Amino acid sequence: MKLAVINFSGNVGKTTVARHLLAPRIPGCHVVAVESINADDGQPVTIRGRQFAQLQEFLQSVDNVVVDIGASNVEELLKLMRRYRDSEEDFDGFIVPTVPARKQQQDTAATLAELARIGVAPEKLRLVFNQVDDESPIDRTFETLLAYCASSGGVQPRPAALLSFNEVYALVRGTGQSLAELAADRTDYKAEIARAGAQSDKLALAHRLAIQRLARGVIPELDACFAALELQRLPSGEQAMPAA
Ligand SMILES: Nc1ncnc2c1ncn2[C@@H]1O[C@H](COP(=O)(O)OP(=O)(O)O)[C@@H](O)[C@H]1O
Ligand SMILES: [Mg+2]
Repeated sequence: MKLAVINFSGNVGKTTVARHLLAPRIPGCHVVAVESINADDGQPVTIRGRQFAQLQEFLQSVDNVVVDIGASNVEELLKLMRRYRDSEEDFDGFIVPTVPARKQQQDTAATLAELARIGVAPEKLRLVFNQVDDESPIDRTFETLLAYCASSGGVQPRPAALLSFNEVYALVRGTGQSLAELAADRTDYKAEIARAGAQSDKLALAHRLAIQRLARGVIPELDACFAALELQRLPSGEQAMPAA
């Protein structure tokens, strides 16, 4: 299974979706962040032809990979995909996260339109409704984007492919651990807090307890979102993705 996570917008959750939703649920999955290619000088990076060639070669050499395409690279990448005819076929699917803000919904529609233009079939596209507010229904929150989907006859929205707003994604960054590791942490922090002497130690342990609880709480939602994506129904999914 080879997936690209893509959107013209930054801050829609591409990196979050790649690392926490997709990669942990695909056996032996590599994550490639296109924005990190030669990004060590701190300048925004665009993929050049040679790097794109390397990316394509890498894609041929692995079975399961998620490519997280940073927003500054998307247009360049799509241009290169047009030049390297049929290279979009290297991907089984294109995962497009989106968030409620109107500007991001418009950018998401533009991303879907561009993918259609380079020849990606609608069946290869999946939206992920990210940072959803539990109180408001998807059809209201994402009205702009859903109207585009209905009128373009392209991607079929799967309303259950959603991730709620959850502070765990920000917290997990500071820990250097994965959500699965944090959820599997068996430490009894309540007992440790009771044993700790200094208040600062108690507070540090209370922070760990909060992360452990949030991590355990979010895993079922990630599992449900992943199932709702129905990646086994991608055109090449049956071979690429053994049934769970
Ligand atoms: N469902 C969510 N709930 C809360 N925060 C989120 C969620 N998804 C992403 N974030 C946060 O939003 C910010 C942008 O997400 P990120 O995955 O880095 O987006 P992108 O890669 O598209 O720029 C990050 O700080 C991330 O932790
Ligand atoms: Mg990112």
